[in-house]
Amino acid sequence: MRSVIDIVDLTTEEIDGLIKTALDIIKNPEAYSEKCKGKILATLFFEPSTRTRLSFETAMLRLGGQVIGFSSASSSSASKGESVADTAKVISCYADIIAMRHPKEGAPYVASKNASIPVINAGDGGHCHPTQTLADLLTIYREHGRLNNLTVGFCGDLKYGRTVHSLINALARYTGIKIVLISPNELKVPTYVKEEVLDKFNMQYTETTSLEDSISELDVLYMTRVQQERFADINEYNRLKDSYILTPDKLVTAKEDMSILHPLPRVNEISVKIDDDKRACYFKQVDNGKLMRMALILKLLDDAKNGVEGIVSNDNNYVTDEVKCLNPSCITATEQELPHVFKVVDKENKIYRCIYCEKDGII
Ligand code: NCD
Repeated sequence: MRSVIDIVDLTTEEIDGLIKTALDIIKNPEAYSEKCKGKILATLFFEPSTRTRLSFETAMLRLGGQVIGFSSASSSSASKGESVADTAKVISCYADIIAMRHPKEGAPYVASKNASIPVINAGDGGHCHPTQTLADLLTIYREHGRLNNLTVGFCGDLKYGRTVHSLINALARYTGIKIVLISPNELKVPTYVKEEVLDKFNMQYTETTSLEDSISELDVLYMTRVQQERFADINEYNRLKDSYILTPDKLVTAKEDMSILHPLPRVNEISVKIDDDKRACYFKQVDNGKLMRMALILKLLDDAKNGVEGIVSNDNNYVTDEVKCLNPSCITATEQELPHVFKVVDKENKIYRCIYCEKDGII
């Protein structure tokens, strides 16, 4: 069964196809208004969300389908101790497609392995968020007319910001991309993003702590919120939360056609004084998110109908249960019966990467 858990589950041609569908929906919304008649989307949101959940729900309603679901773990059987696998099996009997958000990294992956219907990851902990990336890509495409030859700056919480991880991963497939990573030292991108994406695809990237020094070279500035809910220590959050605040004076040296993106919700990292600047695209991103989710739901239901399988990795270099994942946010930390599976990155130096959360494990 075809699911989208990570942005790498979609080929470049498929992403192009989704953009094409989204552009067609803009031109011709009536042609899509009954495409999912009789179909049900289940939105399983174990973590707070306004935009993403309502975006998925609106997308399905605009396609003529219907929606069931819940918007917090406390209103689901998870509060009684039900496993993600069981929830996925049960919901497969009610719905045709699932959108799942979960605070534990790897939970939507577990759901996809147990559901008999497509599962879309709507954000798992600090790990990834592929449908926000689809919204970001459509926004960049509509603003700049291309997805290659761009310098993209990511600013803020690059450690816990799952939208950052997924967008960097998506940009790896386009040519002429330069990445500028702007963050405090404590909030740099995780190792797996560096090793498995930036280094693996030979991406051109720089790391800096200064937004002022780098803003003039950017075509896209991707601002992010410091992710309070992922910090173990609130004092650390308080120390870092105001690291970057984009104000009109900082835009003086920026390109006239630079686009400013933000997945929202915004706290204070972009001054409201910038909202009327023609470079501000964060509210356009919301609309683009709805369009890309419509395109993705359509595609996955179509693939399910036609028996199209997802991309299967040829990489069989895995070990099970010899290694332990130490990430407290990994789904294996709460669901003890799940097999611990690791990709062998470097056997000699004992580097093993958890298949659920992509953090390194130890023997
Ligand atoms: C983002 C998320 O949930 O990761 N929001 C979203 O999907 N629109 C970013 C965030 O919460 O900061």
